[in-house]
Amino acid sequence: MSGVNEIRSTFLKFFADNGHEIVSSSPLVPRNDPTLMFTNAGMVQFKNVFTGVEKRAYQRATTSQKCVRAGGKHNDLDNVGYTARHLTFFEMLGNFSFGDYFKERAIELAWTLITKEFGLKKDKLLVTVYHNDDAAAGFWKKIAGFTDDRIIRIATSDNFWAMGDTGPCGPCSEIFIDRGEHIWGGPPGSPEEDGDRFLEFWNLVFMQFEQVTPEQRVDLPRPSIDTGMGLERMASVLQGVESVFETDMFRHLIEATSAALGQGPGKDNIASYRVIADHLRASSFLISDGVLPSNEGRGYVLRRIMRRAMRHGQLLGAREPLMHRLVWALVREMGQAYPELVRAETLIEETLRLEETRFRKTLDRGLAILDEKSVGLKKGDMFDGDTAFTLYDTYGFPLDLTQDALKSRGISVDQASFTDAMDRQRAKARASWVGSGDTASEAVWFPLREKLGATEFLGYETETAEGVVGALVKDGAAVDQLKLGESGAIVLNQTPFYGESGGQVGDIGVMLGEGVRFRVTDTQKKAGDLFIHLGTVEQGTLKAGTALQLDVDHARRSSIRAHHSATHLLHEALRQVLGDHIAQRGSLVAPDRLRFDFVHPKPITPEELARVEDIANEVVLENDEVTTRLMGVDEAREAGARALFGEKYGDEVRVVSMGKTAREHGTNALGWSVELCGGTHVKRTGDIGLISVTSESAVASGVRRIEALTGNYARKHANDAIALAKTAANELRTSVDDVPARIAALMEERKKLERDLSDARKKLAMGGGASASNGASAAGVREVGDVKLMARAVEGIEMKDLKSLADDGKKQLGSGVVAIVGVTDDGKAGVVVGVTADLTARYNAVDLVRVASEALGGKGGGGRPDMAQAGGPDGAKADAALAAIEKAMAGA
Ligand code: SER
Repeated sequence: MSGVNEIRSTFLKFFADNGHEIVSSSPLVPRNDPTLMFTNAGMVQFKNVFTGVEKRAYQRATTSQKCVRAGGKHNDLDNVGYTARHLTFFEMLGNFSFGDYFKERAIELAWTLITKEFGLKKDKLLVTVYHNDDAAAGFWKKIAGFTDDRIIRIATSDNFWAMGDTGPCGPCSEIFIDRGEHIWGGPPGSPEEDGDRFLEFWNLVFMQFEQVTPEQRVDLPRPSIDTGMGLERMASVLQGVESVFETDMFRHLIEATSAALGQGPGKDNIASYRVIADHLRASSFLISDGVLPSNEGRGYVLRRIMRRAMRHGQLLGAREPLMHRLVWALVREMGQAYPELVRAETLIEETLRLEETRFRKTLDRGLAILDEKSVGLKKGDMFDGDTAFTLYDTYGFPLDLTQDALKSRGISVDQASFTDAMDRQRAKARASWVGSGDTASEAVWFPLREKLGATEFLGYETETAEGVVGALVKDGAAVDQLKLGESGAIVLNQTPFYGESGGQVGDIGVMLGEGVRFRVTDTQKKAGDLFIHLGTVEQGTLKAGTALQLDVDHARRSSIRAHHSATHLLHEALRQVLGDHIAQRGSLVAPDRLRFDFVHPKPITPEELARVEDIANEVVLENDEVTTRLMGVDEAREAGARALFGEKYGDEVRVVSMGKTAREHGTNALGWSVELCGGTHVKRTGDIGLISVTSESAVASGVRRIEALTGNYARKHANDAIALAKTAANELRTSVDDVPARIAALMEERKKLERDLSDARKKLAMGGGASASNGASAAGVREVGDVKLMARAVEGIEMKDLKSLADDGKKQLGSGVVAIVGVTDDGKAGVVVGVTADLTARYNAVDLVRVASEALGGKGGGGRPDMAQAGGPDGAKADAALAAIEKAMAGA
């Protein structure tokens, strides 16, 4: 008997030994398919390789692929727990040939593996082929030696496998095992085929065609092979048990549940144990692939799975949240094959614990209502859809949970009245939008939001994906197409492009489809969570309904991530250096810079700023993982997560933590920096590279702003500064180290030269030169009556020096009046009049300076009787001003 892990590795090794490349499972959220909710088959990641669009380095591959069949087209959720073989999460083992071998070799390999490696007995096996596939039937006869009655021809789509309405497809051949007469059921094609006796465990698809549109089917470039074996089913066969839930892996998970509950399963409640084990796997793998519970799309399917398990935990009498206490057991079983599970263990535990804690708050009350309203109902009755809606809307019971709760009593839910109640509520919500005062040009988005639902954002996990165009908008109105050269907005069902929010700018990039290219120049969010991609059609015509390959400008986004994470680190570092009052007021996270505004009453000193930068860079160097959790907003606040002041948050918030936790570092229980944030971040703090704070300033009273750069931008900034220093050193003919001393010396020298120059000018001014009044002596001294008047007009002397010139003049004269008009470079004038002490009784300097000022076109002037100063706009009148003083003295 082989354990699940052994079967998986035997399968992969067998195909590796036969020239197949072992390829890792792709994520559960398909990157390359715009319509699939979850990866539901091994071939999903190879879809484009089959059609020849994508080339790989190998032509044969083998995988063990994580699959989820819940929500969307393939939905097994309702059956899980109640049948022997349905699972929401399962592993599909497969081998693939991309135009290499075809039918014969595929059948040969399959036959060798199951009979030689797995030791299945030929007489228990039988196969189906598509009704007209004589070739496949012939190979089975030749290779397995089957007689015709063991090769069943099926004409229905059961034996023609198609991925969906479009995509690669072809006839297939399924391998069945007869598990014995004691189990009810008949061979494929018989009326009893739905029974469990004949179990299909491997499907070999002979990929030959591509369904291009629902009407058009073309040949694939080369015939190929896609096979899918249900690992859990194979394990049940090899382990000789009737149900997948009795295989080793599920037994271990059910044991862990029993241990956590302190009680094991019995006949009446085994289904609950099975539901919990399956849903634990589905939820954990979805969370580790980046899906978090939400109220729409993939997140809502996850929530439904989680809550369904949680109700079964409640049924089993769990008093405390249960699911998160089982994660260790799953990691032990599957962590080696899927390391992503180990990496996400804490996140999975926390997400389950929080969801269960929150759900439990309403679970009891909801169940009581369910009991109360269904008390009189009997098998075959219908439960009221209005109540089912209340349970959904108020108590968080997804419809399938209510259905599941009533299933065992044979009661169904009135879905029509449930949908009515839902529609009524939508109409109410619509009415409130109309009243929300949005401008007319924005009104286009609300109906689109309602029609298309929220855009699924894939950009936390990936920067490339496929999406389908749900709507096109041009000049504020929905249109069917955008033609070459036209600009507009695209709404898709899902997108890796980040829509501007929380300070982080929107992504740019390119979208490609058959013969069409759209250049995205910005991404915005409208009506809450509708992502709109703005840009221009660069090739072809873009039509609604088209599938597009979506590529975010990767380098730009990486840099945005670094700047966003750096903003968080600076925020915490600021708080540590400046104090707890630091509260964020706004931020800008761009590819080439970041800006962070916060409350702080005074400028930050250079020393404080240096410490902030040091601390933030220390955390960068620690290179710890950046983790994202989903939490209730109150729980997040209690846990010390920082939030933007005054911002409205939903019930649930993403919480981004970086750096070491309280245990290791003595700060917050979740990490060193913990913030509510919907933005995109680096994987590890080391990815930031370097943080360099480039400026600190005030934006409003009490609000400071810092600006900073990260990674290459920080490095380039530093290099530019060094280059500048080198240029300066060259100019100064010295080394970079000596630049400060050299500049200080030059400044000193310059001051001295300025002083010398000023002295020289004064001397020159007082010794003649500039201009002097007519009839003056060389020094410009004349007699007015018995009084000496020194009258000079000077240029190139600073106004502040005029007074000292007048003082000098007074000393020179011993007794007399000094009048100096200084003309500035821009043609204005200043005038100073000095009167020696012995003459102040006769001449008042203030009166004389006013006379001069008037002549210069000015007014006023002031000072003391021995020294006064004034100015005027008209420097050309310097001589007239001096003449006016002389005249005033003569007349006095
Ligand atoms: N694609 C096929 C299936 O899902 C075989 O892998 O059954």
